[in-house]
Amino acid sequence: MLNVALPKGRLGEKVYAMFEAAGYECPSIKENNRKLIFENEEKQVRYFWVKPSDVAIYVERGAADIGVAGKDILLEYVPDVYELLDLNLGKCRMAVAAPNEFNDDGQKVLKVATKFTNIAANYYASLGREIDIIKLNGSIEIAPILKLSDVIVDIVETGTTLKENNLEVKSTIVPISARLISNKSSFKFKGADIEKIVNSIKNQVKEND
Ligand code: PRP
Repeated sequence: MLNVALPKGRLGEKVYAMFEAAGYECPSIKENNRKLIFENEEKQVRYFWVKPSDVAIYVERGAADIGVAGKDILLEYVPDVYELLDLNLGKCRMAVAAPNEFNDDGQKVLKVATKFTNIAANYYASLGREIDIIKLNGSIEIAPILKLSDVIVDIVETGTTLKENNLEVKSTIVPISARLISNKSSFKFKGADIEKIVNSIKNQVKEND
């Protein structure tokens, strides 16, 4: 049985469609209920819907053989997994943003609010810029408005949230997209099945381009 962790939500539905096209369909998954685990005995596949930021934990610890996680999570938590494929879905970027009028003169320690403390710390360390990190869990955009921080490090997709709060991107740290990941020992022991899925999805990603 191949265990697959899918990120709950619209991205996960697109990802499931790719697995289905790869020959690992599980029709019961489309039934509209609150179930979180679905399996197709005949195809030897089991899917579970998990919070997108938890997929890498399931895969790292072997509860799932493979899964789909955002590059943001992989960079932030550096789970011990194989990154097999860029799915070219869920595209956005990790960026530094601040009120339009803010300019970093480099004089004082920069106050940075973020959910992604490691990404922020690594980015500013690479610039040799001293920062004070303020860890938040959501609605990060409020922090500079209320002067809790000077800037934020956060995900920007359409840019609408920033714009509506009079913030703008000051620099892009890294582009983000969804990645197919594998547990390391599953890759060894279920390699043929995983390889088959990777190849089929690789072709689908090309067709999407
Ligand atoms: C993310 C991110 C921004 C928003 C960016 O939040 O933190 O707030 O999306 O999208 P946009 O550029 O298209 O406006 P998410 O919805 O994931 O929730 P969060 O507040 O928990 O971070």
